[in-house]
Amino acid sequence: MKKERVLVTSALPYANGPIHLGHLSGAYLPADIYVRYKRLNGDDIIYICGSDEHGVPITISADKENVKPNVIIDRYHEQNKSAFEKFGMSFDIYSRTSLPIHHKNAQEFFKNYYDNKLLIEKKTLQFYDNKAQMFLPDRYVEGTCPKCGFEEARSDECENCGSLYEPNELINPKSKISGGTPELKETSHWYFPLGNYQEFLESYIKEMNEKHGWKENVIQYCKGWFKDGLKDRAVTRDLDWGVEVPLENSKGKVIYVWFEAVLGYISATKELSEKLNKPDLWKEYWQNQDTKYIAFIGKDNIVFHTIIFPAMLKACNDNNDDKYVYPQNVPANEFLNFEGKKFSKSRGWGIDVDEFLNLFPTDPLRYTLASNLPENKDTDFYWKEFQAKNNNELADILGNFINRTFIFTQKHFENKVPPRGTLTDMDTEMLKTIEEYPLKISKLIEKYKIKDAVLEMMNLARNANKYFNDSEPSKTVKSNKEVCATTVNICLQTIYTLAEVFYPVIPTSSEKLFTSLNAKPTEWLNSGKSNLEVGHKLNKTEIIFTKIEDEIIQKQIDKLPSEVEENKDEEITFEEFSKVKLKIAKIVHAENIKKSKKLLKLKLKLGNSKRQVIAGIAQHYSPEDLINKKVVIVSNLKPAKLFGELSEGMLLAVEDKNGKLKVLEVDELVNDGTEVR
Ligand code: 2FM
Ligand code: ZN
Repeated sequence: MKKERVLVTSALPYANGPIHLGHLSGAYLPADIYVRYKRLNGDDIIYICGSDEHGVPITISADKENVKPNVIIDRYHEQNKSAFEKFGMSFDIYSRTSLPIHHKNAQEFFKNYYDNKLLIEKKTLQFYDNKAQMFLPDRYVEGTCPKCGFEEARSDECENCGSLYEPNELINPKSKISGGTPELKETSHWYFPLGNYQEFLESYIKEMNEKHGWKENVIQYCKGWFKDGLKDRAVTRDLDWGVEVPLENSKGKVIYVWFEAVLGYISATKELSEKLNKPDLWKEYWQNQDTKYIAFIGKDNIVFHTIIFPAMLKACNDNNDDKYVYPQNVPANEFLNFEGKKFSKSRGWGIDVDEFLNLFPTDPLRYTLASNLPENKDTDFYWKEFQAKNNNELADILGNFINRTFIFTQKHFENKVPPRGTLTDMDTEMLKTIEEYPLKISKLIEKYKIKDAVLEMMNLARNANKYFNDSEPSKTVKSNKEVCATTVNICLQTIYTLAEVFYPVIPTSSEKLFTSLNAKPTEWLNSGKSNLEVGHKLNKTEIIFTKIEDEIIQKQIDKLPSEVEENKDEEITFEEFSKVKLKIAKIVHAENIKKSKKLLKLKLKLGNSKRQVIAGIAQHYSPEDLINKKVVIVSNLKPAKLFGELSEGMLLAVEDKNGKLKVLEVDELVNDGTEVR
């Protein structure tokens, strides 16, 4: 197979808290499996990651603890770095965006845009805290939403109704720093003209998708952005934590965290090159047009890696001789939940990686997560499933086959590879199987179908177990030793193949297997061919997978906060409930609202009356899908204005397990206007 030069990145985690299992499943484990496979395949690959150490959330954490931001980032950088190591992540470098090499790199990019007259200066009004003597980032201001009256709205957007507005529209603003009323003050910021790159981006993504098959969720997400039209984006902030804007008269301004963090991948590669004493090595990966650049991320990062970063690279390429490569694929994953709910540090829901790995070995966790990656939809980690994956698959299928084979070899063949005699159909079939599987698995991994690849790895172990059983070596060892020797020879060869194909997922166990086999891995596609010579002496073996007892798992389940505490809803009386009028309404007209990504304007018919409702479902339904649906609405909700449009009621909807909103519907037989009882 042709060897490739590959650059792999995983999203740079914020050094603002410990990573949990959800992070691993999203952007790290799939990348590590891909990278480890590629290395065995003989490709030239580097794997880049590091901590994202700027941004407002870090300053908020620092304020809360009354320490400098440095304390926060040092703590979590070290913690996360070591958790990743324990989890077996094989980064070539785990860098940090607080390093001088990154500040320099990010400033050079910024300056380059500026010198090429790409950045646009705009004056805006922003809240200023006189007591704290600082401009307040959006998250530092709280007030009442001008559209829906929600009292904990941010200065620019309302979490409750999804409206976007100008800071001067926010009612009763309060600074979260001093508690005082901030005043609006003029400030100026630099904007990056993202819109100029829309045409390029659309054709780039189309081409990549056609050639390399991007994931559907990623394509749909990008289309959504293009439909709305890309706009200028502010790339500076008034803040004293971050990469300083490298221009005159810009004191107190830093580069917006997302605008520099993505450049962190390049800085980290430069750092690696310096460490290796090959200062230009980074260019081989970033600026050699043969390089295949793959960016692994979670779904919340899509826009930054498919739109903003490629646009930044394009802007740079348009004005410089050396050209950067663009991501060839961005296989973004959905989210992993924990026992049916979102991970939540504050509610104690979930488990940190470090804590997990103090309790259990790494490989069973890698295997469990890998066989349940949220590639196409959100998935869950369940303790019981973890136990089942370990006990019923790793121990009972893979482990059992390996142990039986090793024991047999020790007992009857002096722990040496015995010779093959005449092959039966079953033997030939098994030899064919081990030749085919490495290719089958590699095809899936090359398409980022890691979960399916893992399934096939275990299928190979299943086949092996069956072969062992059907060949009945405990009988043939007495009746015909030559036949028995053939079986054991093929089983040992199969262990070799298993050790190799499982290596990307369970590297520690795989290495132990190679040690037992007294052999080294070979190039991936050769791993199913005879690699163990007759007479080859094996090493002492050890049990690789041990079962996890019920009590141990139960102890973890018992630690979780109880359901009851979780969902303690406020009780209401029947009288209070009966004030709410729910009615069936037929949707007769639906349209998008300009300026709002989230809202749709609906005209409803309720028997003889008509009314208008503004519903926050635009990201889940297109207007034409809604026509003639009979839905449930709260019909006596006090009318309110949203985006200048009157809303007289509220639609009932639920979120499905993929996070999509579904409006509640009734069938044709129910008349509109009917009251829900
Ligand atoms: O979502 C996150 O954790 C971000 N810190 C990812 C940044 S990725 C990169 F592009 F900087
Ligand atoms: Zn609101």
